[in-house]
Amino acid sequence: MPRVRGDISLPGDKSISHRAALFAALSANHVKIENYSLGADNMATLKCLMKLGVPVKMRGTTVDITGVNRYFSPKDPTNVRLYAGNSGTTMRLLTGILAGQRLYCMIGGDKSLNKRPMRRIAKPLAEMNADVTMTNAFTAPIHINPAQLKAIDYTLPVASAQVKSCILLAGLFADGETTVTEQIQTRNHTELMLNLRTDNNRITSSIKSPIEINDMLIPGDISSAAFLLVLTLLSKNSKLTIRSVSINPTRTGILTVFDQMGVEYDIENEHESNREPFADITIFGRQKTKGFHLSGDIIPNVIDEIPILAALAALSEGESLFENIEELRFKESDRIDAIQQNLKELGVKSEST
Ligand code: S3P
Repeated sequence: MPRVRGDISLPGDKSISHRAALFAALSANHVKIENYSLGADNMATLKCLMKLGVPVKMRGTTVDITGVNRYFSPKDPTNVRLYAGNSGTTMRLLTGILAGQRLYCMIGGDKSLNKRPMRRIAKPLAEMNADVTMTNAFTAPIHINPAQLKAIDYTLPVASAQVKSCILLAGLFADGETTVTEQIQTRNHTELMLNLRTDNNRITSSIKSPIEINDMLIPGDISSAAFLLVLTLLSKNSKLTIRSVSINPTRTGILTVFDQMGVEYDIENEHESNREPFADITIFGRQKTKGFHLSGDIIPNVIDEIPILAALAALSEGESLFENIEELRFKESDRIDAIQQNLKELGVKSEST
């Protein structure tokens, strides 16, 4: 293992960047977003917004968006064809917003995104009276026509922040109050950024919910930090500080895993911007790590960190067990398969049932 030492900042959180751009576009303000993620998925969101006629200006990682006050007015409203690339968040969140618009629109993605399950959004949107159609297999491309949406009270059958957000965003255009109940909590960036009413595991949106977005600074992405944290903790004579990372409790499952394993790290300079908590995380190497067991409520909280946690498990003493991770089969690729393939190549034994 190399020696890792340093003091760094990371690109903006992907989930928060998507939402910042989408909600700024729906607001009635001029919003400046700093440390926006320049990853392909986040760029896909910006390109879709531009196609929808939203004024977007970029200078490095700063994005200026002039909100359209809820309703898009694209240059050519007869032919709005949007491309979400590989980004499930772009497709699922935008479909919720588009369901309430006053225009026809088509949204598609790359080969992999066009195979991912969209029934999970089609079903609640149909209950809301949305005019959303897709292939017979409930995959993209998705066609959306204007419709008068009605509010629903929906319990999420899968723990998915994308599905939750899609419904709550359609709820911004529906008469009455749309309520989404989560059986297991997923990342809460949509409800925090829109300041939606939240009562334990029930979140409510309605046409009356104000879309007021202030200028914002996107925190560093804890999912990117995860790789560096694990690398540092396994390396000799190492110490790494990552500045201004998101420590939103719905995203810090990896720190909970570290706590369970007795891994040492420090959290300093805690602060907040637009209700999202940030901090500097310092981690030390080389720490001896033991196998661990993950299941149940923590899974959505570490859903994007499971590949790196599997690598950590492989380099730790003893066996590790990951339960309730079937959602990983429906990501950009089948992540359970990919993890097992890679572990096999490294000569590490793993079994899945
Ligand atoms: C995301 C939610 C998660 C996550 C994805 C980003 C989001 O997906 O895996 O990388 O920004 O809402 P699911 O909602 O499909 O679990």
